[in-house]
Amino acid sequence: MRKLTRSFYLFFISLSIFAQQNRMWVPSDAQKAYYQMMEKGARFSLDDLYHPEKPSFNDAIVQFNGGCTAEIISPQGLILTNHHCGYGIIQSLSSLEHNYVEDGFWAGSYEEELPAPGAYVTFVRRIVNVTQQVLQGVSDDMSPERRQSVVDKNIAKLKQEIQTEPWQYVEIKPYLYGNIYYALVKEDYKDIRLVGAPPSSVGKFGADTDNWMWPRHSGDFSLFRIYAAPDNRPAEYSPDNVPYRPEKYFKVSLDGVKEGDLILVYGFPGRTQQYLPSFAVEHVTQTLNPVRIDIRQRALDIMDKYMRSNDTLKLKYTSTYARVANYWKKWKGENLGIKKSNAIENKRYIEKLFLQQAGTNGFGEEAGRVLEALKQAYNELEAPDLARNIFIETMYVNNDWMRRAFLIYQWENLHGDNYAQRKAKILDRIRSAFNRTDNRVSKELFIRMMAYYKQKMPEAYKNKTLFEKNIILWADEIEKTSLLADSSKINRLALMDYNKFQEALKNDSGYNLARTLIDDYYGKIAPEQSRVKEKINNLMRVYTKLLMQSGLYKDMVPDANSTLRLSFGEVRGYEPRDGVYYEPVSTLDGVMEKYIPGDYEFDLPEQLLKLYEQKDFGNYETGGTVPVNFLGTAHTTGGNSGSPAINAKGELVGINFDRVWEGTMSDLFYDPKICRNIMVDMRYVMFVIDKLGKAQNLVNEIIQNQ
Ligand code: ARG
Ligand code: ASP
Repeated sequence: MRKLTRSFYLFFISLSIFAQQNRMWVPSDAQKAYYQMMEKGARFSLDDLYHPEKPSFNDAIVQFNGGCTAEIISPQGLILTNHHCGYGIIQSLSSLEHNYVEDGFWAGSYEEELPAPGAYVTFVRRIVNVTQQVLQGVSDDMSPERRQSVVDKNIAKLKQEIQTEPWQYVEIKPYLYGNIYYALVKEDYKDIRLVGAPPSSVGKFGADTDNWMWPRHSGDFSLFRIYAAPDNRPAEYSPDNVPYRPEKYFKVSLDGVKEGDLILVYGFPGRTQQYLPSFAVEHVTQTLNPVRIDIRQRALDIMDKYMRSNDTLKLKYTSTYARVANYWKKWKGENLGIKKSNAIENKRYIEKLFLQQAGTNGFGEEAGRVLEALKQAYNELEAPDLARNIFIETMYVNNDWMRRAFLIYQWENLHGDNYAQRKAKILDRIRSAFNRTDNRVSKELFIRMMAYYKQKMPEAYKNKTLFEKNIILWADEIEKTSLLADSSKINRLALMDYNKFQEALKNDSGYNLARTLIDDYYGKIAPEQSRVKEKINNLMRVYTKLLMQSGLYKDMVPDANSTLRLSFGEVRGYEPRDGVYYEPVSTLDGVMEKYIPGDYEFDLPEQLLKLYEQKDFGNYETGGTVPVNFLGTAHTTGGNSGSPAINAKGELVGINFDRVWEGTMSDLFYDPKICRNIMVDMRYVMFVIDKLGKAQNLVNEIIQNQ
């Protein structure tokens, strides 16, 4: 009897092992995924999914501005992404007089579209498995350094050999820690213009309180357009550019979704780490997360205080606040989820099974050695990785003055080709940093962050002499005398010749202190951390190779690495805790339930209230209301925001934008029972464009194609 229970348990565990692996398929290697989608009712073809020569879904999907995803929804290059992905752009095009964040923005014609300097989108036209070529001449007994140099040489050679058009370029990236390599043929379009955005009360409805949560009621979308040279090729911004004519765009469907419907999410997931061993998950959740959460909490409190007191400060800090709060909350959820799903126990069990399996197949010794070496390497990583994270959080992410010092440091160390051009770029960034900050806030952030650093930086990495200085006097000094706090000093600096420039930096005591800290980082913390990280990566490559050999996982789908992936699932609710079931669809009724007049997270535009009162829902109505958000079982991560949610007919029914609270640990441990992605329903998007934005031109452009 006991034996039976135990084997049942084993069976259950191994099932969940298969389940928790990565599910983000590389499009050129997604046949197996495609057949599973067909079983779930997919009516598009394998060639629609991805094809290197014919127009296919990947031709209608772009990486948006290096981070998010966007999709093309009209023959005139109109693209749809999240509001939170376009937010930085919308904010930088706004002022208190033209406040597109607050009021939204709808271009009535091409002429009214607003160029977004610096924004770009990236297409992936072709994906080629080049593992064999990259690993040619590599053998298992090579030192990691030797191996890398062979790999680098092979990559350089391959880049020359792969045929591309003049406007394309090739990237070759490691997958599964360098057990697999793919070449990606890409195109960047650099003339991107803002076309439409709802007021942030709709686009960001629920803001940080609702972030990473279900039920959700956010209209998280914005519209841009890709512009191209008259020959349809990529070009820098020019008034002569024309709307890009795509090879493929998604038809927007107003059919909606219901529980059980197939859903395909296709985009650019940033980073997952599904195959980390138990002690590595402990490192992330027990060593790093608590410290990062703690630091961000302090910074958020300060920003919040000032933002509530003053509208100008609110506008300046709102984007920074949202960015900092996003991962602060994510890490909190991640730690809860790792605990609740017994991830560490499960991972330990996987390691045990792995060793058993390896033993049976004659590589037990090697498997044991690798895991042991990894464990030791993670011990070694603890101090430098903690130091690195404390440094980045206190001296960069949450510290305006110090972040600026980094830019000036880059400027100071500039030489060689294109000096003037690179200097101008850095200056732009410094100036825009000044526009987004205020010394009242910056000073308090500085003091709090320096105090944290002084207290918590591991001794071996702390600059003790520097921190004998009184932090408050230090802050006063920067505020009164330093170019870190005075943009007019920066403007003067920009006009100086090189010697004068050096002289001025030398005499700026605030900047000198900052530089000492930056030198500490580049001289000590970063090299030590990356030395150990390097070692870990090499061990992880061997570990994943042995994992593949062990056959423990059915398909070892590579972790996300900011490359194009697809993930499918279905529309489905979940049980967040015993006795509670979450429905997979939310509606406008729920938006109204959450409405708090004047609140900075739950306010609504008056016009929306009117539409609701009059039940003026147009074509977007179903069951007497408008569907707003829905849940799916697709495996997604940061970077998947803005990804198209595609139905069985290959049409666009939603835009991905978030995950649920109970599933925020999915980057480390994917549990299909409770991990869900959250999408905006296209009917809500169209309702907002049509009824709230009254942007008939856009409705026509999107719907007339149908
Ligand atoms: N959690 C989502 C993602 O990781 C949405 C973030 C946008 N909202 C915010 N408060 N920052 O990007
Ligand atoms: N909100 C994320 C993004 O911006 C998506 C996620 O983490 O689920 O990419």
